[in-house]
Amino acid sequence: MRENPIARPANYEAFPVLCVDDERANLVVTKHNLGKRFKVYLATSGKKALEILSREFIAVLLTDQRMPGMSGVDLAEQVYRRHPDVIRVIITAYADQEATVDAINRGHVTRFIKKPWTKPELEAVVIECIQNYQNSLALKNMQQRLVNLDRITSLGIMASSIAHDLRQPLSYIEPNLMFLENELEHIRQLLPPDKANVIIGRMEQYLNDATLGAQKLRTFSSSLLTTLSGNSMTRSQVQIRNLLNSVLSITRSTITRKARLKLELPDEDITIYGSEGRLNQLLINLLLNAAQAIETDPAFENLVILRIFPSEMSLIIEVEDTGKGIAEADMDKIFTPMFSTKGDAGSGMGLAICKQIVSEHDGSIEVFSTPGNGTRFKVTLPLPP
Ligand SMILES: Nc1ncnc2c1ncn2[C@@H]1O[C@H](COP(=O)(O)OP(=O)(O)OP(=O)(O)O)[C@@H](O)[C@H]1O
Ligand SMILES: [Mg+2]
Repeated sequence: MRENPIARPANYEAFPVLCVDDERANLVVTKHNLGKRFKVYLATSGKKALEILSREFIAVLLTDQRMPGMSGVDLAEQVYRRHPDVIRVIITAYADQEATVDAINRGHVTRFIKKPWTKPELEAVVIECIQNYQNSLALKNMQQRLVNLDRITSLGIMASSIAHDLRQPLSYIEPNLMFLENELEHIRQLLPPDKANVIIGRMEQYLNDATLGAQKLRTFSSSLLTTLSGNSMTRSQVQIRNLLNSVLSITRSTITRKARLKLELPDEDITIYGSEGRLNQLLINLLLNAAQAIETDPAFENLVILRIFPSEMSLIIEVEDTGKGIAEADMDKIFTPMFSTKGDAGSGMGLAICKQIVSEHDGSIEVFSTPGNGTRFKVTLPLPP
């Protein structure tokens, strides 16, 4: 398996060098000169070099130009096509102008080394190539992050516009429901009482359900807007019950499709000082992750628990699930922006944002997980004195 390590700049061994020369003696000398500081692979032909490149991670290619069969330029050209990240260098004893032009145009080589080279010269070139390799890797990572951020921003804009647009139909549904309620009262007076009780009673039930639905939509749209505008950290007194109403109006249906939702809440409402929008985001991310971690049916056999309790001077919020858990190797990475195991379904920003929100509130977040058994996130937030 080819792997692509991100290493400290001085850790040259993490960036292997492949040396290609048809003369074994030359390879032995190169290995002797580079072997102590760098990881070196050797190949006696272009064909063998391509085989090594297809199975090993290589950062730098150092190839002799004059070789029977595939020349250094031919090899550099193939490597440029198949492994464009590898930095290519040609070693030549001849001031061969045609080969030089070819190397630049076809092989996209970064450097030439003239034979005979000295050890410091060779080392300096290899170090420069490794640095070039690291720079282009960093640039690629940055570009990928920008693409992801762009996608997240677009999603955010789309979600706010949906939340906003939901309000427009509500602005005529809600008053019309009220008018209907008044009209029903008029009809009741026109009907004989026994008929009125049956017919109007039923219609009132339908109206109540429709009004409840409209209210839910309004709460949902407000919660979404509060959450999406939660980037600015305006602090105020936040009632835990209010916060939960809004969070659950967004997440409840997603959770209950996967699991039973168990709420373990304090008897008395608790007030904390913070940003309602940001705390909304925090809980929504943790609850959605919990639901997404559950991959087995049926829903009633799975559990998502939201547990809130005061402890000394802090408020503890725990989100626990009986989902697939987190692999030991991923535990260090999950709070890193863009780390996701969900492919296209995840941006990998959820927990990074949670960590940021918790630190904005002078709190802490911990995770406990057993692969195959489930996960518990524990958030500790300071309570006002
Ligand atoms: N409750 C959980 N159970 C198992 N794995 C989890 C849980 N919460 C987070 N993870 C792991 O942590 C990774 C990062 O989570 P994070 O919320 O940052 O991103 P995401 O859920 O993949 O994408 P999104 O940005 O849409 O939230 C997830 O991809 C998943 O592997
Ligand atoms: Mg997530």
